[in-house]
Amino acid sequence: MNAPQSGIFALGNPSHAYLEFNLQPGGDSHALVTAMADLREPRTTIGGVNLVSGFRPELWRNLVPDGLPGDLVGFNEDLVGADDYVMPAAQHDAVLWLSGSSYDVIFDEARQAINALAQIATVADETSSWPYRRYRDLTGFEDGTKNPSLLAAPAVVLIPEGTAGAGGTILLLQQWVHDAAAWESLPQSAQEGVIGRTKPDSIELDPQPPDSHVSRTDQEKFGNIFRRNMPYGTVTAHGTMFVGFSASQRPLRTMLESMAGVADGVRDALTRYTKPVTGAYYFIPSTDAILRFATIAASV
Ligand code: HEM
Repeated sequence: MNAPQSGIFALGNPSHAYLEFNLQPGGDSHALVTAMADLREPRTTIGGVNLVSGFRPELWRNLVPDGLPGDLVGFNEDLVGADDYVMPAAQHDAVLWLSGSSYDVIFDEARQAINALAQIATVADETSSWPYRRYRDLTGFEDGTKNPSLLAAPAVVLIPEGTAGAGGTILLLQQWVHDAAAWESLPQSAQEGVIGRTKPDSIELDPQPPDSHVSRTDQEKFGNIFRRNMPYGTVTAHGTMFVGFSASQRPLRTMLESMAGVADGVRDALTRYTKPVTGAYYFIPSTDAILRFATIAASV
């Protein structure tokens, strides 16, 4: 049994930080994984922090050739869609997602992690997140309505036992900036047409506009994913950290292609009000696979 990293499923935490790292020039990827395996969250019931660690697929494959799905690749090239719409590739070597009950503990843990990795890797990107009206994103809509429940999520997210990378998962991490002025200038009914759901209570529109966000990411068509999106930013510059997991890269990749209108020229209406500024895929190994690199014994 390959146990998953439990932070993937740790719902209800209001404070988040996403740190993306690049190896120093000539850096040693084995040393990076070891340093990340040796990071330990304070496993207490008060002020605990969840750590989820992930790696650029090609980096992990170099270290553990059969340790992840054979077709998994990084976000190595920009995704170009209809009207030359671009989703930029911003792949880094490793990611650390910290979540917890308050930002001070996240801040302290993140500082410690950065210091622990300092000889090997540098922070390439960082974002901190906070909840908006409990479970809404900064469009004001409920985000996660169609997510699988916590009971169903492991089957959606985890690579099955007996296959390469068992107990691991695939993360798409993508920062989206919102054009708040353009969005706020839309009447509520037009916003609902963009998302494909009603704003107050998240009821799915029927019929669905063909370019609504729900139409363009319909899980019945593309397969299921598990989203842990969070708002980020300041009052004047903000948006959504898209944090999506799946046991296979295909649903994530084909949803992005669909949003960009790659195959049929129909762009997701949401892309007219929000813009991706980063994009990376990470392999999130099982805890067992990471601990094989640890030099500090895991305490029980
Ligand atoms: C600015 C970025 C984004 C925002 C604000 C956003 C917001 C939303 C909202 C409000 C919903 C409807 C409620 C729900 O079911 O959760 C939704 C649905 C969904 N979104 Fe997004 N989303 C964003 C980006 C993405 C991206 C990049 C993907 C995929 C790679 C994605 C995949 C999905 C899926 C799969 C659904 C459910 C579709 C279904 O009904 O089957 N979203 N999103």
